[in-house]
Amino acid sequence: MRILGISCYFHDAAAALLDDGVLIAAAEEERFSRIKHDFGFPERAIRFCLDKGGLAGADLDYVAFFEKPFVKFERILQTALGTVPRSHAVFRKAMTAWMLDKLWVKSRIRDFVGVTPDHILFVEHHQSHAASAFFCSPFEDAAILTVDGVGEWATATMGSGRGSSLTLDSEIRFPHSLGLLYSAFTAFLGFEVNEGEYKVMGMAPYGVPRYQDKVWKLIDVAPDGAFALNLDYFSFHYSATRTYSPRFESLFGRPRKPETPFFTDTSGYPSYFGDKPSNYRELAAENQHYADLAASIQAVTEEILLRMARSACARFQHQVLGAPRRFIMEHAYWGAGLDPDEVRGVADTSGLRSVECDDDAQVIERTVTLLEAGKVIGWAQGGFEWGPRALGNRSILADPRRAEMKDIVNTKIKFREPYRPFAPSVIEERAAELFDISEPARHYPARFMLLVVPVLEQSKPRIPAVTHVDGSARLQTVVERANPRYHALIRTFGDATGVPVVLNTSFNLRGEPIVNTPAQAFSTFARSEMDALVLDRTIIYKDFE
Ligand SMILES: [Fe+2]
Repeated sequence: MRILGISCYFHDAAAALLDDGVLIAAAEEERFSRIKHDFGFPERAIRFCLDKGGLAGADLDYVAFFEKPFVKFERILQTALGTVPRSHAVFRKAMTAWMLDKLWVKSRIRDFVGVTPDHILFVEHHQSHAASAFFCSPFEDAAILTVDGVGEWATATMGSGRGSSLTLDSEIRFPHSLGLLYSAFTAFLGFEVNEGEYKVMGMAPYGVPRYQDKVWKLIDVAPDGAFALNLDYFSFHYSATRTYSPRFESLFGRPRKPETPFFTDTSGYPSYFGDKPSNYRELAAENQHYADLAASIQAVTEEILLRMARSACARFQHQVLGAPRRFIMEHAYWGAGLDPDEVRGVADTSGLRSVECDDDAQVIERTVTLLEAGKVIGWAQGGFEWGPRALGNRSILADPRRAEMKDIVNTKIKFREPYRPFAPSVIEERAAELFDISEPARHYPARFMLLVVPVLEQSKPRIPAVTHVDGSARLQTVVERANPRYHALIRTFGDATGVPVVLNTSFNLRGEPIVNTPAQAFSTFARSEMDALVLDRTIIYKDFE
């Protein structure tokens, strides 16, 4: 049974291929098209998946689309009609977009992939979220909770999974949405919705959650986590451009101006912002207010999510067994690998000194020497990662023991806001030595850099470049079986320095998708101040020696 999964026309279009329930390939379109968050029909990602599986479209048993476009369209129409005339603009915009592409997705799939319409299935949006989490997990049974902005109608669902069956038996519907509540604050704090939410989360530890009482005015929550927004404070249900209403502003004051530099007394004023402004004190105080607001929405969101998760666990249920599951997602390296001829071509035409190492041990030894010397390394190997995180196959690496490394990586390469932490990759078997995490092998989210934990008090001075201002770290545990080469690199760095951790940030420049091919990796390397580039077993050096 071969199934191709597709998502598009919303954000981050992607394709994935399953063969008898085992994942063969998965990739986002942006890695091929080089358009960040590309949401168009994922032609290149589909082609990559079929090529990797050695299949033509006609060999597929089914193509599954990640949501039900007609149901979603119905929700948009009903919402727009319910808020006429305020929704006039959103209605016109939606009609244009939907009439042009979104309603024709079935014929687009039929024409591009070459399957007949009876082989094309449309899955509910939250069913897709739940299936991708549960069916790839190592758990035989689990309580399931999904939360996002909005799918068709659902914005959160609750249910359970057992074996190969999955049931979602309750839901919260649009416009009541925890995701859209968070997005309203994302917009208010001057960031782009669907992009800047993690920046709000990064800002939160710089603030004190002193406005929680005000945030609770926006939402009614039952003890079990069921919630309803107070819609007077929002406008996302009738506006195409605004998520919150004038009443929201009268509660929280003036919104933060988009693209203004964020800094507080705690974060400091980074050198790459230029000279300190004369009204520094005034701006720092103003930013402190916004950081307090970020801390407040973060605290409320966490409280609601915890209530929902507790109640999902409490309502556990038993299911009827279907076909056995055969797949656990142990790693994220489902994308395209590096073509050896292209690696050689890039090294030969680089005009820089390069070496092709004889084996992994040699490339690892040389890379560790560079890291110890304070060099910043572009590190690309094997298949690129599925999803937005770089997990050691398309990463920029540096020494986490040097406090100044955060500034160096920001100033030379990433130009990120100073309040966004860099993440540590640690070998799984030694994670508990540095981080407050018991039995790391049981924490699957940490393998995918989805878990934030406290850094142990005595370890904070050992890894200052990857410890956030509140003493936390969003760590990645590296399992030898899942990525032997990256694991060996960190282990060897640990043998040399006593710290089995590297600073790991995604291999891209600001505003660009993470690199895919050797040529893209080299171009990013050449346009930044990285010191060396590792492409599988080839190392390319800038002139620093
Ligand atoms: Fe979603």
